[in-house]
Amino acid sequence: MKSVSHLASLVPAAALALSLGTGAAQSKEFRLGLITPPPHIWTVAATAFGDELKSASGGKHTVTVFPSQQLGNEAQMMQQLQTGALDMAFLTIAEVSNRVPDFGAFYAPYLADDVAHAGRILRSDVAKDLLSGLPQKAGVIGIGYSMGGLRQIVSRDPVTSAADLAGKKLRITPFEPIKDFYNALGAASTPMPLPAVYDALANGQVDAIDMDAELIWALKYYEHADTILISNHMMFPMVGLVSARVWQSLSEEDRAMIGKLMARHLDGAIDTYVQKEGDWLLSVEGTGRTIVEADAAFFADAIGKWEAIWTEKAPVLKDLRKVAEETR
Ligand code: BEZ
Repeated sequence: MKSVSHLASLVPAAALALSLGTGAAQSKEFRLGLITPPPHIWTVAATAFGDELKSASGGKHTVTVFPSQQLGNEAQMMQQLQTGALDMAFLTIAEVSNRVPDFGAFYAPYLADDVAHAGRILRSDVAKDLLSGLPQKAGVIGIGYSMGGLRQIVSRDPVTSAADLAGKKLRITPFEPIKDFYNALGAASTPMPLPAVYDALANGQVDAIDMDAELIWALKYYEHADTILISNHMMFPMVGLVSARVWQSLSEEDRAMIGKLMARHLDGAIDTYVQKEGDWLLSVEGTGRTIVEADAAFFADAIGKWEAIWTEKAPVLKDLRKVAEETR
């Protein structure tokens, strides 16, 4: 894995001028925001990172974790990172891809064969190189990737073919690549943040949701479904970010310590998904809902349309495809 300490050199001069300090070693109470609830794997990883940073720094640094969108949605947290009002965040790549379209390449349908393959793609040099552009393009330091498994579809009504999704109000995480996928299917994409999803599915505000296996099981979305489409159609990367302004205020030693520890906990969560995804899917299958397995052929027309848009919008896609091929 590349060192993160070099990332400071990538912050533009303007950000340097605005930096909050001289880099002298000072104690710091960091705030880390994320949208997932307290028991979620991302939140557990964030808390474990904070605990380890506190002990590795001899109590000098602490991290207070703000789960469940307490500090705002991902777009708002991204803005706070840019201004330095927020120190750190674990965000879906969704939000990052809204600002840096190349990150949309990760959502190429069926780029990854399975969750372990998704992990290998995220650990590639091509993926890491994308992070090095974040200071200039988004004013944040990308420490490393994690993920939330692969995406599935939960539907209130029966679904036996992609055509059954046409015209359905289908909840998506708010970002462009997934919107383009469902629009290509003829569904009415309905962007909605995670905390609003359960009620929207339960009361029929949406007909279906795009979701991962962990949450379909843990948050019981299956309770309001006729059909669960086990489609594994996209990976769902997450990224650990530090405000570039805050990063500039840290000593080299603190940057190295924070970068190493955060990267380790992010990466460890990838292993957790690889270990647990199969069990979550088995549990969902055990609920007695109709299970329909879908593959790339099921979505073939929509995938063609998606590719036509994103091959141009995210030139790095061709390199990621090469990585995917090499890591099969
Ligand atoms: C979602 O928007 O579906 C989501 C966001 C964060 C973690 C897991 C799922």
